[in-house]
Amino acid sequence: MAEGTGELAGQVALVTGAGSGIGEAIARALAASGASVAVTDVDLAAAENVAASLPGGAAFELDVTSAVSARGAVAAAESALGPLDILCNNAGVSTMNRIEDLSEREWDFNFDVNAKGVFLVTQAAIKGMIGRGRGCIVNTASMAGKKAVPLLAHYAASKWACIGFTKSAAVEFGPHGIRVNCVCPGYVRTSMQERELAWEAELRGMTAEAVAAEYIRLTPLSRMETPEDVARVVHWLCTPAAGFVTGAAIDVTGGANLT
Ligand SMILES: NC(=O)c1ccc[n+]([C@@H]2O[C@H](COP(=O)([O-])OP(=O)(O)OC[C@H]3O[C@@H](n4cnc5c(N)ncnc54)[C@H](O)[C@@H]3O)[C@@H](O)[C@H]2O)c1
Repeated sequence: MAEGTGELAGQVALVTGAGSGIGEAIARALAASGASVAVTDVDLAAAENVAASLPGGAAFELDVTSAVSARGAVAAAESALGPLDILCNNAGVSTMNRIEDLSEREWDFNFDVNAKGVFLVTQAAIKGMIGRGRGCIVNTASMAGKKAVPLLAHYAASKWACIGFTKSAAVEFGPHGIRVNCVCPGYVRTSMQERELAWEAELRGMTAEAVAAEYIRLTPLSRMETPEDVARVVHWLCTPAAGFVTGAAIDVTGGANLT
């Protein structure tokens, strides 16, 4: 789709963690729909790589664990592309461990990016959105934010926090015309999953291939999820078709959250 002709023509979006995986797919989907996209990541080279291939894309360094970085990137993106209509808080990290072996450092790492990061970037963008009386925020949570996940208790807790923040923000910002939702993906084939397959294989004494086969067995739609499966739903949440949807935590899992 050419720049400026899709459903999101004229809109400006900022996506965090957009240098790879689900964030990259979200940036591509929004750009294909006509939005100008600020492709942000703690890894600037990765963001630049993605932005270079997008119509209306521009790259900015943004470490979501830093309020200074969040404010700086939002200001830079708005001065380059215009006021933000859409914010996708997608950046996330994981580690895998049994609770008895989990370090405080691992706990903080997961919470700093997956929970505090969503707060900090939202706060950096929200005053402008409130002033304009409109905006759309979509956070990437996880099915781990709604269920028990052994070996990922710290990650799951950070994603439960993300969903709690999403719902609370939807209530606070609704009167300002700002919708806040999140998506809850299942087993998505990305570099994060590659790392998790190796960790889980080691912790459970299996091969990574056997763990991957188990993920597919646990997914009623019987295949691994793709970043594009998630990005299509994020895109929909940003369109007028979802204009009365707020505070939702939408399962995009192929049914894996049910097993
Ligand atoms: N892959 C899955 O199976 C899966 C499932 C459910 C939810 N998720 C969530 O989806 C989101 C994207 O994950 P992914 O699978 O694409 O992972 P990924 O590792 O492929 O991509 C994550 C991106 O975030 C960036 N990032 C890491 N720390 C950052 C920070 N402090 N500030 C800014 N950017 C940072 C990385 O550089 C990377 O480009 C995460 O929130 C993750 O928790 C993933």
